[in-house]
Amino acid sequence: MSEAPRKKVLLSGIQPSGNLMIGNYIGALKNWVKLQDQYDCFFILVDLHAITVQQDPIELRKRCYDFLALYIACGIDPNKNTIFVQSHVPAHAELTWVLNCYTMMGDLSRMTQFKDKAKKHAKNINSGLFTYPVLMAADILLYQTDLVPVGEDQKQHLELTRDVAQRFNSIYGETFRIPEPFIGEKQQGARIMSLQDPQSKMSKSDENPRNYIALLDPPDLIRSKIKKAVTDSGTEITYEESRPAIANLMTIHRAISNEPFESLTERFAGKGYAPFKAELADMVVEFLKPIQARFKEIRSDKSELESILKAGAEIANARTQRLMRKVYKKLGFIPAG
Ligand code: TRP
Repeated sequence: MSEAPRKKVLLSGIQPSGNLMIGNYIGALKNWVKLQDQYDCFFILVDLHAITVQQDPIELRKRCYDFLALYIACGIDPNKNTIFVQSHVPAHAELTWVLNCYTMMGDLSRMTQFKDKAKKHAKNINSGLFTYPVLMAADILLYQTDLVPVGEDQKQHLELTRDVAQRFNSIYGETFRIPEPFIGEKQQGARIMSLQDPQSKMSKSDENPRNYIALLDPPDLIRSKIKKAVTDSGTEITYEESRPAIANLMTIHRAISNEPFESLTERFAGKGYAPFKAELADMVVEFLKPIQARFKEIRSDKSELESILKAGAEIANARTQRLMRKVYKKLGFIPAG
């Protein structure tokens, strides 16, 4: 019997920090739901990455369960994808050590995210923050990943991953597959910006929660956040680069309604911002309602969530142990029994 052709591996990590929000849904989750049949998908809750900045242990644990339940509520099927917690799969830490020895200090010191985070957490510039991209490289290379969906802020880390993999391969022979960035067809234009500052990306870790709409925000809060979102001068609902605030709200509308920009412009001609914002708010509330209901149900069954994570970690452990044996052998380590 011939084997089914290997599906391409698509892998992404998500930091269990902040609050999953509408930008994560529109920019990432929504696309992954569509890709889950086509690709062999790995979604990792990267708790080891999270501790590069100080975390409250109780909050961190709770957030990992929340994120998992939200993923599932958004349509990520745990039977079709491998979802697990990074710390449940020891090979992530092991390969990180190995790759550290093939990653240059100079390259790491050029990482813009390190520079940004070092500025933001000036009292805790630990070496984990510095080697963060090496752990990310290990995440990716452990599964012979073909595709990594990356936003602008993670492109540099993916480049570094490719460099490290190529360096290792050129010394020891073909070991790691070289990953490519994944640019979804609808990815463009799906970049959601902050509600109060449309020049910067909507971030789940923003210290001002008014900048984002969390997937679990209650209806009143969603309405008030959209109502108070900044707008541009003028009153028309038109999509123009020079009017980033209204363009952003229109992008959110379209991502949920699929209604073209021209149609929005037409429908709201001469009406001003208020009715547009009101419609958008209602739409977001209605859209999130079933997700929130599913979340509540899924989140209440902790033993089910635990068994999903256990199953994910089993698959991940089997795959990574094989790869680690190969890596250690190439390095010249004595096989462990
Ligand atoms: N560094 C990524 C971020 O901050 C998260 C991440 C960790 C990741 N490991 C990964 C993303 C592997 C893609 C692939 O967003």
